[in-house]
Amino acid sequence: MSAPSRLLVLLSAALSILAILPSPVQGVDPRLRMRGACDSVCRGFRQLKTVFFATECGEPNREPRVVGGQPTRQWEYPWLASLHYRGKLYCGASLVNEYYLITAAHCIKRVTMSRVEIVLGSYNKSDTSEESRAVRKVGSWWAHKSFSRRSYNNDIGVIKMDRPVIFSRNIRPVCLPSEDDYVGANGTVAGWGRQSEDGQASQVLRQVNVPIISNAECKTKNYKPDEITENMMCAGYDQGKIDACQGDSGGPLLYRNPKKGKIEIIGIVSWGQGCARAGYPGVYTRLSKYWNFINSHIYKEGCFCPAE
Ligand code: ARG
Repeated sequence: MSAPSRLLVLLSAALSILAILPSPVQGVDPRLRMRGACDSVCRGFRQLKTVFFATECGEPNREPRVVGGQPTRQWEYPWLASLHYRGKLYCGASLVNEYYLITAAHCIKRVTMSRVEIVLGSYNKSDTSEESRAVRKVGSWWAHKSFSRRSYNNDIGVIKMDRPVIFSRNIRPVCLPSEDDYVGANGTVAGWGRQSEDGQASQVLRQVNVPIISNAECKTKNYKPDEITENMMCAGYDQGKIDACQGDSGGPLLYRNPKKGKIEIIGIVSWGQGCARAGYPGVYTRLSKYWNFINSHIYKEGCFCPAE
């Protein structure tokens, strides 16, 4: 190897070490961060894919495993996180990069930040011996400025963890939405919430599939038309029976994009009249309406590994 090329190797090694240090550069154009530091975070992880891991967003864990009915496969959705208040799970959240989670505004508004813990890499919420489990405190968080407690309009918030997580098999980011509209598609909601309106919360992460309906159609259901804003999205069956419920809030409505083969978060569990009632579909925050909000908080620091 010639001297100049050795120098180059050294330089790029030094650069990639710098790149993985969690020292966000303030005031840097986010696109530059994507191409510079983030490139090597995302790419560096991707190289491990051939061995075991994948770093790209939206890749579920789906090795064969026997699970009946509703529970997810263990760690199927490695971006699923839970928020705990004084030790009790009260909301879900989704990991979008090594620092940040997306959740519902109503999960963080008027909640004492210092009392909240974020649990990642978990499947059974009571099993604290889970090897992949990581616990973080909140570094800072932002509920959307226009969130309304009355209407639940703009029910979105961003959490920055006190320190980043290291991506692993059971802790990886989800992709952000790539389309504006998902009407007619099936979404998947996942969470540790109640299993019926007055029922018990789940120990393990569970999931249900729900059809996404247009807002026009949702307004013809039992909700009052103006309760459903363009920032919301409805999903559920006419006869009810299948839905998110208390404790699932803040967690994702997921969509597997067949063109990309990746899973995207397209909604956030927000509200509903009771749970799984006929004529009352679940209402989700429509994520595609919040690019500005997401960009203004998340692109500033940390890396967001794109789906491509
Ligand atoms: N707001 C509830 C929570 O805090 C979630 C409501 C979702 N309800 C529904 N029927 N989809 O956990």
